[in-house]
Order: sequence, then structure tokens, then C-alpha cells
Amino acid sequence: MGGGGEDLTFIDDEGKRLDGRKPNELRPIKMKLGGVPNADGSALVEWGDNKVMAACYGPRELHPKHKQHPMRALVQVTYNMAPFSVSDRKRPGPDRRSQEISKVLSEALTHVTFVEQFPKATIDVYVEILQASAGTRCVGLTAASLAMADAGIPMRDIVTSVAAGKVGGEIVLDLSKEEDNFGEADLPIGMVVNSGEVVLLQMDGHMTTAEFEKAMGLIEDAAKEIYGMQVDAIKAKYSEVGA
Ligand code: CDP
Repeated sequence: MGGGGEDLTFIDDEGKRLDGRKPNELRPIKMKLGGVPNADGSALVEWGDNKVMAACYGPRELHPKHKQHPMRALVQVTYNMAPFSVSDRKRPGPDRRSQEISKVLSEALTHVTFVEQFPKATIDVYVEILQASAGTRCVGLTAASLAMADAGIPMRDIVTSVAAGKVGGEIVLDLSKEEDNFGEADLPIGMVVNSGEVVLLQMDGHMTTAEFEKAMGLIEDAAKEIYGMQVDAIKAKYSEVGA
């Protein structure tokens, strides 16, 4: 939350946001499985102006051996922003932010994976941000789930992720870049839609309990919609294969 946007009118008299969306409206989303034939599974997700490619390799033996877990596989996510993904070139390589996002995404995906079926193994998931415009960890987590499903990784379910936030005193769904920069709070959530479990929860800024509950309500409804898109993307790929 950058602050400094006090002069911006985030919601106009007709209840529309800066980009014309209603408070509970998502940015346009497209998802497709495949795109990286060398990987065991992959997916491309375009979400507003975000463009994210995810690729999954494994399960495969983890090297070096001392990192192996004797009883289960590790799900290791590497989140990376391409240098050209933002307008002022992103310095290549890992930084604290990308390490943090890699960690929380790994934890969220471990939660739904039958890791105990693959002792000593690793499941490597690469999340490459080709174009960034707010909410990349949510888009990345949604794409990573699809890449893992495409790779045939045994999972209890897939993870769906979306954020809500507070701008100009209002709770809104799926913050845009401008709202993220100048808004008051951002709440990215990863969830398992069918069980209602929350597997990622972070918050930047402040909300009251009532605002938090309202934000979670928007997120739960949107997550159902996004989950439906994920299922359709999986069906689209596998009905092609079967045809
Ligand atoms: O992307 P996400 O909202 O999950 O994470 P963030 O740390 O809240 O970043 C918000 C946005 O800031 C990103 O989506 C990018 O558009 C932008 N950003 C940037 O321009 N340069 C960076 N080095 C990091 C983020």
C-alpha cells in the first residue's frame, strides 16, 4: 500500500471503480493448460494486465540428497518476475519479495498435494511473471495449481487464489495496479473452494473485523467463479487429448 493517492476518487457516483469495474467485479481472466512442452505440466494465465506462465516438473528425486525428506515429497515453488514484466526494468534474480512469495506458494500447494506418496522426491513448480499488474501472487498460485494438475500430480484438490482490498474506504475485489499502489489494504487469499480451507492469507494495510469479513465474502464468491474457470481449462485440454 503505497499511500499518496488521497486525491484519487476510487469509486465514482455510479459505484464504478477507476477501471469501470463494480466493487465485486474481477478483471477479465483467461487460462489455458500447456505452453511449455518440456515440462511435465504447464499453464498460462492472463488476468487483467497480468500474464503468468507456470511449469511443473516431477515428482523426481531431490538433489542434493541431504535436502530430501525421508517420508514425503517437497513442493518447491520458484516465483520470478521477468526483467521486462514491469515498466522500470526489474533487476533479475531472487530478492526478498520473490523469496517470500515462493515460500507462501510452496506452503499453499503442499497442503493439497499427496506428498506422502513420494518420499525423498521434489515437485518443482516455476511461476514466471511475464507481465505484472497487481495480484501476481494470486495469479501465480492459480496458474501453479493448473500446471500441477496438468503434470498429473496427485492432489486432494486445486488451489484458487484472489485478493480483495480497501480503497477510498470501500472493500473491493481484485485490486488493479492503481488501487494496489494507492489503496489502504490488500488481502490476498488462497483457498480450496470445495472445503473452504484457507491455504494462503496475507494482508498489507489495515481493515476492521467487519471489513475483513466483507472482503472474505467477496473472495469466497469470486473463488467459486475462478475455480469453475480452472476446471474448464483442465477439461478443455483433456477433451482435446481424448478427441
Ligand atoms: O503482485 P502482488 O500484488 O502479489 O505483490 P505486491 O508485492 O503487492 O506487488 C504489487 C505489484 O507491484 C506487482 O503486481 C507489480 O505490478 C508491482 N511491482 C513492481 O512494479 N516491481 C517490483 N519489483 C515488484 C512489484
